[in-house]
Amino acid sequence: MNEPNAKNSNNKELDTVEIKDYTEANRRSWNQVAARHHKGKEERKKLFRQKGYSVLDETITAKLKAYGLEGKSVAHLCCNDGTETLSLKNLGAASCIGFDISDLAIDEARKLAIDAGIECEFMQTDVYEIPEQYSGTFDLIYISAGSLIWFPDLSLFFQMVQRLLKDGGNVLIYDIHPVLFMLDENDKEHPLEMKFSYFIDEPRVYNEGLDYINKETYEGAPYYVFDPTLSHIMSCTLSNGLMIQSFDEYDHDISALYDHLKDQEVKLPKCYVLSARKQRNALLMD
Ligand SMILES: C[S@@+](CC[C@H](N)C(=O)[O-])C[C@H]1O[C@@H](n2cnc3c(N)ncnc32)[C@H](O)[C@@H]1O
Repeated sequence: MNEPNAKNSNNKELDTVEIKDYTEANRRSWNQVAARHHKGKEERKKLFRQKGYSVLDETITAKLKAYGLEGKSVAHLCCNDGTETLSLKNLGAASCIGFDISDLAIDEARKLAIDAGIECEFMQTDVYEIPEQYSGTFDLIYISAGSLIWFPDLSLFFQMVQRLLKDGGNVLIYDIHPVLFMLDENDKEHPLEMKFSYFIDEPRVYNEGLDYINKETYEGAPYYVFDPTLSHIMSCTLSNGLMIQSFDEYDHDISALYDHLKDQEVKLPKCYVLSARKQRNALLMD
């Protein structure tokens, strides 16, 4: 798919130890922020006591309805505290399991499921280490806002998606558009000024904490993001035997970081939905 000189972020060869160092650092950071995020979402979570409640917006709900969740086994990768996983179950999935690397986010997700009386499983694990027992067991893998940036090797991530899906199963990604990461969300005076490169060779490292909900800054453990380009996301999807069925871009913000852009005349792509299907007997490309 790529021209010989096409530039992708996140295309360096990394060994298993380097990958683990990054994902472990990120696990620590997500654990540090879990209690802060929980505080900011406590009231909203009580809404799950209402039958059939969902936090999913109309864009992704329409996609899920068109797909048809009834009777489907669903895995949610990077599920955080499980609010979207529970919503998938409430929208009709037969079974749902959420996987996330953060121990504390998974504890929250389990508590929320019990409080709401919704049958969902949650497992603390690095996506790269999801146990073999789940291979080929899912009709749908769901991945949402702010998930793909955390993976030092995105091809390995999609290899896992491919392994987890049944033949003919689908992956649905509803994530922040990579173009948005070129802006500084804190610069409200020049909101459209591009401050950061689209193409990066090294991970971005931050240590001011991950509290994008309450916007509290604190001296946190360092965390690493890999900001894949759109072409890298698509190449990794295709080269791992996942045939893209549809790809749509939208100008609404799903990150809660760029609300101040909504009245701008210049409309940027702010999120996208990518749907891909696992091919039977897929021939994997290098
Ligand atoms: C921005 S949150 C995604 C939240 C999601 N949109 C939701 O609310 O359902 C990113 C999540 O990715 C998880 N994560 C980061 N690296 C991971 C990894 N290597 N394996 C599994 N989960 C990971 C974090 O713990 C965090 O919960």
